[in-house]
Amino acid sequence: MPGGLRIAPSILAADYARLGAEVAEAEEAGAEWFQLDVMDGHFVPNLTIGLPVLESLRAVTDAFLDVHLMIDNPGEFLEPFAAAGADMITVHQEASAHLHGDLHRIRELGCHAGVALNPATPAETLSEVLGYVDLVLVMTVNPGFGGQKFIRGAVPKISTVLRMAANRGIAPPVIQVDGGIDPTSAPVCAAAGASSFVAGSSVFRWAPGIAANMAALRASLAAGV
Ligand code: DX5
Repeated sequence: MPGGLRIAPSILAADYARLGAEVAEAEEAGAEWFQLDVMDGHFVPNLTIGLPVLESLRAVTDAFLDVHLMIDNPGEFLEPFAAAGADMITVHQEASAHLHGDLHRIRELGCHAGVALNPATPAETLSEVLGYVDLVLVMTVNPGFGGQKFIRGAVPKISTVLRMAANRGIAPPVIQVDGGIDPTSAPVCAAAGASSFVAGSSVFRWAPGIAANMAALRASLAAGV
């Protein structure tokens, strides 16, 4: 998993008629980590991409491909997403009936294991699995769509997760934030302890364009709050 403060463009916001070209443009601008938002129309009120998109991107990039499963019963899809080339698979605490088992299975399949928390889900729900995750995704929107407003109230959860790990003597997981992440909200999350910043609209949709948007995000993280 790439270290340090990392911007992870979310391809949810990309132009799917030019997906390969836009991913390449983001890579040229320094992106080494991409997030693929898989949504099933049940766990979240939207339907997006699946295995064919991951397979296609795997064939054209060596970047770290992080699959965010916003689906019911994610345990049923761990093998196919690992086989399709995921470097990391993140399941939602709220959607996984057997979270401990799912996280173990993700690692058995050779992927990094992530768990995501919606804004209403307390960090404490991870108390029994913190030792089995590489990453905790603190959602800063209610998942389902890009372009939503950043929920600043989710930020304290970042330090709560890190404090829980420290109190248990567990190596701290990477903290990822996702939703409304831009040059204003990213440094706020970094100051709380986040190091992976999923950004869709603020990379692929905003003017002036991908390269400048990536540079603006990097500059905001370098400057801090
Ligand atoms: C959940 C999705 C979005 C997306 C990023 O809805 O996970 O958060 O990746 O969306 P932006 O960066 O456009 O808010």
